[in-house]
Amino acid sequence: MKSFLIFSFFLIFSGCTKKDAATTETASSEEQLLARGQTIYKMNCIACHNPDPAIDGPTGPSIKGSSLELVQARVLKGQYPEGYKPKRDTKVMPPLPHLEKEIPAIHAFLNK
Ligand code: HEC
Repeated sequence: MKSFLIFSFFLIFSGCTKKDAATTETASSEEQLLARGQTIYKMNCIACHNPDPAIDGPTGPSIKGSSLELVQARVLKGQYPEGYKPKRDTKVMPPLPHLEKEIPAIHAFLNK
């Protein structure tokens, strides 16, 4: 009987721990995405855009709040989504297609 009790406590306990771990994981993976986006942004974008994406940079405009479609079109192909009115009519920014798998992180950072 005693060992049964200990066993049930163990079950209850391990159940709780698992749940907590899952919750923390979700929160931290969002934070990780943001942190990754910030790193990618610093490494690839601030030569032209401001380190604070809400402010105009030396060459590139402010890009805070950019939609996923805009980030994708602009970074991967150097284009704009259909019907989008660009902030600048220059064509200075080169496409950066090697960043394809970082688009969700960049988008998260620009919309945090
Ligand atoms: C070589 C300079 C340069 C680099 C590097 C650069 N950009 Fe740009 N970006 C610009 C310029 C300049 C514009 C304005 C349009 C143009 O001339 O191409 C622009 C426009 C944009 C736009 C569209 C803004 C709008 O709403 O019209 C987005 C989004 C953007 N950049 C995102 C990024 C991201 C994200 C990175 C890094 C992965 C990046 N850019 C790297 C120079 C740059």
